Amino acid sequence: KSLEIKDNIFWVGAIDWNIRDFHGYSTYKGTTYNSFLVKDEKIALFDTVKKSHVNELVHHIKQLVDPTEIDYLIVNHVEMDHSGSLPEIVELIKPEKIFCSKMGLKAIQEHFHPENWPLEAVENGQTISLGSKTVKFLETRMLHWPDSMFSYLQEDKLLISSDAFGQHYASSERFDDEVDFSGLMEQTAKYYANILTLYSPLIRKLLAKVQEMGLEIDMIAPDHGLIWRSHIKDVLHAYADWSQNKGKRKALVIYDTMWASTEKMAKAITTGIDMTGVSVKLSTKMVNLKVNHRSDVMTDVLNAKAVVLGCATLNNGLLPRMAGFLMYMRGLKPTNKIGAAFGSFGWSGEGVKLMNAAMEEMKFDIIEPGLRVKYVPNHSDLQECVEMGKRIGQAVIEQTQE
Ligand code: FEO
Repeated sequence: KSLEIKDNIFWVGAIDWNIRDFHGYSTYKGTTYNSFLVKDEKIALFDTVKKSHVNELVHHIKQLVDPTEIDYLIVNHVEMDHSGSLPEIVELIKPEKIFCSKMGLKAIQEHFHPENWPLEAVENGQTISLGSKTVKFLETRMLHWPDSMFSYLQEDKLLISSDAFGQHYASSERFDDEVDFSGLMEQTAKYYANILTLYSPLIRKLLAKVQEMGLEIDMIAPDHGLIWRSHIKDVLHAYADWSQNKGKRKALVIYDTMWASTEKMAKAITTGIDMTGVSVKLSTKMVNLKVNHRSDVMTDVLNAKAVVLGCATLNNGLLPRMAGFLMYMRGLKPTNKIGAAFGSFGWSGEGVKLMNAAMEEMKFDIIEPGLRVKYVPNHSDLQECVEMGKRIGQAVIEQTQE
């Protein structure tokens, strides 16, 4: 069903209960593609949905208006999960105008190669009137794509925020206060970690700009997941916190192992970290890449201070899960971390060097040179691992405040 979320503003999006992979990000809870219909002197539709869900969108619109009565289409973001159904929707409603950012106009042309669509690029800060409601457009380049923008409905204090503040969270509920709060924040963190981490500097600027503009917000409606109305301060605070990349008093030991030698080292290092955390709150977590999805691991990385990587050497390189994880993490550019590497080897032993090089590229503060053990660790090797763990734990304590 469509749902009125504010006076004459309706959710008309679609729920995708079954999606489990979103370009490499595991979406165990499914997702939603949120669209919003505003009824005023002019009727406006904000964003569309993934192509597979177009019927759901049209069904929801038809509960409220004849689709051909829609005057304006606003495209806040051109990624296919929001625009895949655009050609069908344009054909159906024949809008008077399609508003998008300047980059959005280019992206629409490059995606759909339209002929005669009434596209109109808006400037940052430009407003349009729907009658009694005013829409202000805010350019938010790279949040998530160059074309991204927000739409702010001034009189309603409603921010339609595209991908920002979203979560991949399918639910029959529409609002943040209707679902379990910790589960919601977990999915919000996962979204930030896997989609937005690399844009943290832009998010810091955006939050400052919103504050500077004195934008009054009493609802944030992202294009994925639940709408924020009761926990706006919480989500803004979380974004401010994550975008600072400060890291909490938390260490992750992320590893893959061939014949359990690297795993033995991982346990000993974790023990060493734990030993430094006896009198202070320091959480440690062992993360085996065989059983943890990279996108869940990135959610842990989001607020960890230390990222300790362990991998056996395979064919002069890394085990494929670690190589894939490093590629994924490098793309997301987490910053301001303490890093360390370890692993077993048989004869060539390049694994530790490769992991250190990747962490160096991410400008981690590396505890050199890392620890290598030939074939199977003995008692004294494991003691060295414990000592390494203690050094890591001590560095975390020194560089964080709780
Ligand atoms: Fe939800 Fe960047 O698309």
